[in-house]
Amino acid sequence: MPDAIGYERIGDIAVLSANNPPVNALGYDTRVGLIKGIERAEADTGVRAVLIYGEGATYFAGADIREFGKPPREPYLPDVCNRIEACPLIVVSAMHGTALGGGLEIALSSHYRIAVPSARMGLPEVNLGLIPGATGTQRLPRLTGVEPAIDLVTSGRQIGAKEALSLGVIDKVAEGTPRDIGLAYVQELLDSGANRRAVSELPAPAPIDFDAAYDAALAKARGQLSPAYGVRAIQAASEKPFAEGVAEERRLFIELMGTKQRQGMIHAFFSERAVGKLPELDGVTPREVKAIGVIGGGTMGAGIATAALQSGLNVVLLEMSAEAGEAARGRIEGNLSGALKRGKLSQEKYDAMVGKALTIATDYQALSDVDLVIEAVFERMDVKKEVFRKLDAVCKPGAVLATNTSYLDIDEIAAETSRPQDVIGLHFFSPAHIMKLLEVVVAAKTAPEVAATGFALGKRLGKISVRAGVCDGFIGNRILKTYRTAAEHMVLDGASPYQIDKALTDFGFAMGPYAVSDLAGLDIGWMTRQRLAPTRHPRERVPTYADRLCEAGHYGQKTGKGYYIYEGSRRGGIPNPEVMDLIEAERAQLGLTPRDFSDDEIVRRYMAAMVNEGAKVLEEGIARRPLDIDMVFLSGYGFPRYQGGPMKWADMQGLDKVLADIRTFAKDDDWFWQPAPLLERLVAEGKTFDDLNKAAA
Ligand code: 3HC
Ligand code: NAI
Repeated sequence: MPDAIGYERIGDIAVLSANNPPVNALGYDTRVGLIKGIERAEADTGVRAVLIYGEGATYFAGADIREFGKPPREPYLPDVCNRIEACPLIVVSAMHGTALGGGLEIALSSHYRIAVPSARMGLPEVNLGLIPGATGTQRLPRLTGVEPAIDLVTSGRQIGAKEALSLGVIDKVAEGTPRDIGLAYVQELLDSGANRRAVSELPAPAPIDFDAAYDAALAKARGQLSPAYGVRAIQAASEKPFAEGVAEERRLFIELMGTKQRQGMIHAFFSERAVGKLPELDGVTPREVKAIGVIGGGTMGAGIATAALQSGLNVVLLEMSAEAGEAARGRIEGNLSGALKRGKLSQEKYDAMVGKALTIATDYQALSDVDLVIEAVFERMDVKKEVFRKLDAVCKPGAVLATNTSYLDIDEIAAETSRPQDVIGLHFFSPAHIMKLLEVVVAAKTAPEVAATGFALGKRLGKISVRAGVCDGFIGNRILKTYRTAAEHMVLDGASPYQIDKALTDFGFAMGPYAVSDLAGLDIGWMTRQRLAPTRHPRERVPTYADRLCEAGHYGQKTGKGYYIYEGSRRGGIPNPEVMDLIEAERAQLGLTPRDFSDDEIVRRYMAAMVNEGAKVLEEGIARRPLDIDMVFLSGYGFPRYQGGPMKWADMQGLDKVLADIRTFAKDDDWFWQPAPLLERLVAEGKTFDDLNKAAA
């Protein structure tokens, strides 16, 4: 194996090349290699300058995240950075790929920086629940000033070479390989007699109102600490000498390293990458997909068609009538013109998408040549079955037949066709061209290459695809139904929907469950309650006050009234007083005396319901690994990333505590609160959900 950092002498230039695939992460060997490389260059007679660049796909993409949480090993990254800057020779970094986090910090410690035009740079530590911990918060503001530095550190956003040049992060942009442009730039600097230049020696950046910036960062991040800590670290750069600022950055970094938020976010990072890795699909080749059909151009069908067009696919959209087809076209054009206005799409591409690439049809024959069809018609089994019978008759052999059903039995749908091996669930989330989650629902007879095609399509559409099995609601909606029920029980027993929404947004959810219901439409839950009524167990507690709201025509945001009243702007309504009247009437009718709920109890009940149902979903094989459930909630249900997902959250609480809560709640309702056998087993064996993730890896 080559050294993590190679050393080569070219004339009077020492070249240090990073060789730590896949992303040149700054693990122990790389850090040691950099220090040794600098020392060797200093001792190498005649060397006047050092060039640092990365072999392979990228410059250094950051610290080695796999080392986090383990005892740190010297040399630490900030010491490596300071050692590079202290070098008496001119040090130049040449960047390509992604220079992120510790990687950018190495570059900022070099005396000059050059990048290829496609290079991306950033300090994304905030996305891992951290701040830059290798002098980035001290060096960056000395180059850019405080405000751009706060923007980059608190958002974690990546910038391109052009923006980096205009902000003063880099000195030059040039086309070529990093090695070639780096060598040419070093030569140019040597020829012009340039001096060594240390960012740490630049004047401290001018201060701003740091307390206001801290408060703004805290409020924006909904309880996540790292952005606000980033502001404090940059404040130190402005107010303290460099070495003291570095010490303050280190103190804040180490404090964050010890938090559950950091654990949760790093779990999310690795889960995002593990979620698509399924041993059952190893070596399975997906079928080729160039053109897709979409049946039904309502909310979901139009969103799915939009996503497909944006990824370069041709789309045939089938509706019930020419008028419905035109309405679908209008929705798709509306979605795409949003992207056009935001500058995410050129006019030329927009024209091609709504022109040549999109066909609206009413005749099934139009689907005879597509490679994959996604059905998104009304959520009714009889309607879906008829659609699949027709698809079976017209689609070419080998075409994948997918349904976007939210709850219905895909095995039953597949049985309507002569080719159940080609049938799969592709469950998108609304708005389908924006939401990241895709549940790939593998039915009993789905062929492996059809499942692989689902994942390949998800990747092409930029989705996070999670494998799920068939059951009522698959992974997400099934678990949702259980924790929504737990919320409804609390409402009957004394909490208000508004207190529940507040407790959960304080926990970090983007929206509380009642605000979400208003957004999705209260009629959806109403229809589901009606559908499930015949199968309901007599001990199930199902409130009816929400049915009264629907009967009065209040479906949430789309009718202007639901749990909240929406006037003017559609976002954020005010509580609807009729709701509490209906709840109080129902409590009185049931003879219930309302009691107080603390926010803590609300969160514990809500989360325990989620985790318990999650454990049942795992045990039944509906989800393969706990991390699959975490990814469903992080990418489709607004679960706060810094809490890691429900199963990681449970691990961090201690599974014994969650189980003890469930047993306590069961004293009042042992029908609803039946502990999942898997949860009991893990607690008995002293294991965690993460142990199951590791066992499945
Ligand atoms: N450490 C360890 N492994 C890493 C890593 C890192 N910093 N970055 C990526 N990897 C691993 C991934 O887990 C993946 O492993 P796998 O193949 O076993 O699943 C592999 O490298 C390839 O990663 P991607 O699949 O993400 O590849 P892409 O080409 O899509 O993206 C990337 C490359 C843009 C570099 C992306 O991986 C990324 O954003 N990485 C994280 C960058 C980051 O957060 N850096 C800051 C780290 S914290 C830090 O530096 C602290 C310092 O301030 C002290
Ligand atoms: P919608 O009511 O907005 O759209 C349904 C469309 O299908 C209508 O435009 C209708 O004209 C068309 N349609 C009905 N029968 C048809 C047929 N036989 N042939 C062709 N077109 C037909 O419904 P929505 O919300 O788009 O839901 C569609 C499916 O997606 C349902 O199965 C639903 O459960 C599922 N889904 C809905 C989500 C949501 O948030 N709305 C999220 C995920 C899945």
